[in-house]
Amino acid sequence: MKVLVVGSGGREHAICWAIAKSEKVDKIYCAPGNAGVSEYAECVNIGAMDFEKLVAFAKEEAIDLTVIGMDDPLVAGVVDAFEEAGLRVFGPRANAAIIEGSKAFSKDLMKKYNIPTAAYENFTSPEAALEYLETAKMPIVLKASGLALGKGVLICNTLEEAKEGVKTLMLDKQFGSAGDTIVIEEFMTGREVSVLAFSDGKTIKCMTSAQDHKRAKDGDQGLNTGGMGTFSPSPFYTKDVEEFCEKYIYQPTIDAMAAEGRPFVGVLFTGLMLTEDGPKVLEYNCRFGDPETQVVLPRMENDIVEVFEACVDGTLDQIELSFADNAAVCVVLASAGYPESYEKGFEITGIDEVNAMEGYHVYHAGSKFNEEGKLVTNGGRVLGVTALGADLKEARANAYEATKFVHFDNKYMRTDIGKAIDEA
Ligand code: AMP
Ligand code: GLY
Repeated sequence: MKVLVVGSGGREHAICWAIAKSEKVDKIYCAPGNAGVSEYAECVNIGAMDFEKLVAFAKEEAIDLTVIGMDDPLVAGVVDAFEEAGLRVFGPRANAAIIEGSKAFSKDLMKKYNIPTAAYENFTSPEAALEYLETAKMPIVLKASGLALGKGVLICNTLEEAKEGVKTLMLDKQFGSAGDTIVIEEFMTGREVSVLAFSDGKTIKCMTSAQDHKRAKDGDQGLNTGGMGTFSPSPFYTKDVEEFCEKYIYQPTIDAMAAEGRPFVGVLFTGLMLTEDGPKVLEYNCRFGDPETQVVLPRMENDIVEVFEACVDGTLDQIELSFADNAAVCVVLASAGYPESYEKGFEITGIDEVNAMEGYHVYHAGSKFNEEGKLVTNGGRVLGVTALGADLKEARANAYEATKFVHFDNKYMRTDIGKAIDEA
């Protein structure tokens, strides 16, 4: 089989790594890919939003299956474009990817189908939003409804902050048209867990749980980022919690989407808050998480291509997902200054030493080969160093040990990825 993966981050690197283990696959392409991906896949210089070129490439190369990693192309209808051309593709159509593309849609869906989530109201007018805030309980959460690189969420402690937030999202348009509609929702407290699940539109099968650390600095301080590290499994995601979520969240979500005429085929990512009143949905994403994928896939024992095909063919009920009884931790190595300003172009060394060890892997997010063919930093989040271990403590120790091998100027990382584990 020939497989094409669409995307360019650490997540796509991990997806290519998993596909490369499949006995069914002879050749992997990745568009546009990155320096790390080229270890397993031939990188093709086509942007993830250039549907016409992607479809033409898939036809020309007789690609048997295309896997979409990123959210933007999914929300914009890349799967529809591939299907219209008669090509096999893994991911939700635009009418289902809306579950991530519009938070207002996903909140209304949850309300209609009684799926537990925070109380909320949607607003398309700043005046109405401001009026609502006058009598609302603080703290409160403001969310740009559209895609905003995971950054369109404001947690406001006072009425003044919340009013300022409405201005930022709806009037100053800090996240562009993503803020045309905003969701104002109740503030929840508890542990956060990410659960990725495969679905064929009818059946949903969950992967092992994970947790992301979104803030830039230790102790969950500093600005929100695309994710500074992850661990899997989450010790807070107990059997009881899992059973509750299967019964009241995952299957009801897939059933709701089918009932709405929007069958969800692909990976459904549910961000959960484990509150005192039980698990509630924080958000849905319509694709693998980044950097959750970098700790979940290394633990998966299935042939991932068989699972992708079962989703596309509607036969997921015949697949049993299997995960190793171990743990994984991924520590992101970033450029100092991220997520604000930072320098790039510094040479990276030491990756091969890590990759040579069993149970360790460095996934690339923002790197490239410069004109001299040297691997250099090329982004805010540069690499994700993943290590396995018998349990979370061991995986965490292993991951931090491995980060010592990898060098570049201005290397920055959090030192407490997975620390919550010690409190469990
Ligand atoms: P989201 O993109 O909706 O997952 O939001 C990003 C982050 O904001 C989440 O991972 C939470 O840490 C936080 N957050 C979102 N919604 C809420 C809420 N209702 N209460 C408390 N924190 C929230
Ligand atoms: N790690 C969060 C996300 O992929 O959206």
